[in-house]
Amino acid sequence: MDFGIRNRRALVCAASKGLGRGCAEALAGEGVSLVLNARGVEALEATAAKIRDRFGVPVETVAADITTEEGRAKVLAVAGEVDILVTNAGGPPPGVWTDWDRDDFVAALDANMLTPVALIQALVPGMMERGWGRVVNITSRAVKAPLAALGLSNAARTGLTGFVAGTSRQVAHAGVTINNLLPGSHDTDRIRTMDARNAQQKGITLEEQKTQRLAGNPVGRDGTAEDFGAACAFLCSQQAGFIVGQNILVDGGEVNATI
Ligand SMILES: NC(=O)c1ccc[n+]([C@@H]2O[C@H](COP(=O)([O-])OP(=O)(O)OC[C@H]3O[C@@H](n4cnc5c(N)ncnc54)[C@H](OP(=O)(O)O)[C@@H]3O)[C@@H](O)[C@H]2O)c1
Repeated sequence: MDFGIRNRRALVCAASKGLGRGCAEALAGEGVSLVLNARGVEALEATAAKIRDRFGVPVETVAADITTEEGRAKVLAVAGEVDILVTNAGGPPPGVWTDWDRDDFVAALDANMLTPVALIQALVPGMMERGWGRVVNITSRAVKAPLAALGLSNAARTGLTGFVAGTSRQVAHAGVTINNLLPGSHDTDRIRTMDARNAQQKGITLEEQKTQRLAGNPVGRDGTAEDFGAACAFLCSQQAGFIVGQNILVDGGEVNATI
């Protein structure tokens, strides 16, 4: 299927590795030119070079912390007018609900709620003027089913979800869709770090921890960045223009809910 987005221009945030990179690759596969962001220059440049080689699309890079005002200004200056925005940033640290103070909450809200809100506010007006746009926010399955150790994530991402629910319905008339993609467990650095922490806490091996975790997944494996990227590219497609304000799980059926 041709997704009808060849020669569109996308900003994909936090995209040198993991799920952001999966989204960037899937969009590049559809002929979309890219502006990629991450903090670390080396991995960012290596990813950009691989994508240029493999897909033959233009790829610009901006090394910056997307969760800071300064970082966003740098990224937005290079991005200019984009048709597609994929918001993403690192997830908050795990812990216990009694651990976190105001500063921890402010940091989580900045990274996983207020950063995507600021990017939407900066880029969606231009998309509306031009009559076409797609925004995909990478959130988490924690929005549908809370993860006990990730209270900061549960809280911040649910805030973004509320903002998107209302805003997506105010911009859809101008051809702009905003949706959220909710990853379950995917084989990235993030999940490997979480597995290592949990294995250590339980006094079991990494392999045992992974086996225990996957026992709750109907597909019986972790997702891949490619699985996730494919869902993102579809939400950015011409064909997905009637999908508005949705929260779509990509989790192998792990969240056990009827709707
Ligand atoms: N993987 C999962 O199973 C899973 C499940 C649910 C939710 N999530 C969420 O999905 C998001 C992506 O996860 P992932 O697994 O893809 O993580 P990952 O493999 O650790 O990759 C994170 C990417 O984001 C970049 N990044 C991190 N913080 C950034 C910042 N402040 N500014 C710019 N770039 C930044 C990293 O590069 P630099 O470090 O060089 O900046 C890297 O390219 C996270 O919010 C995570 O919590 C993941």
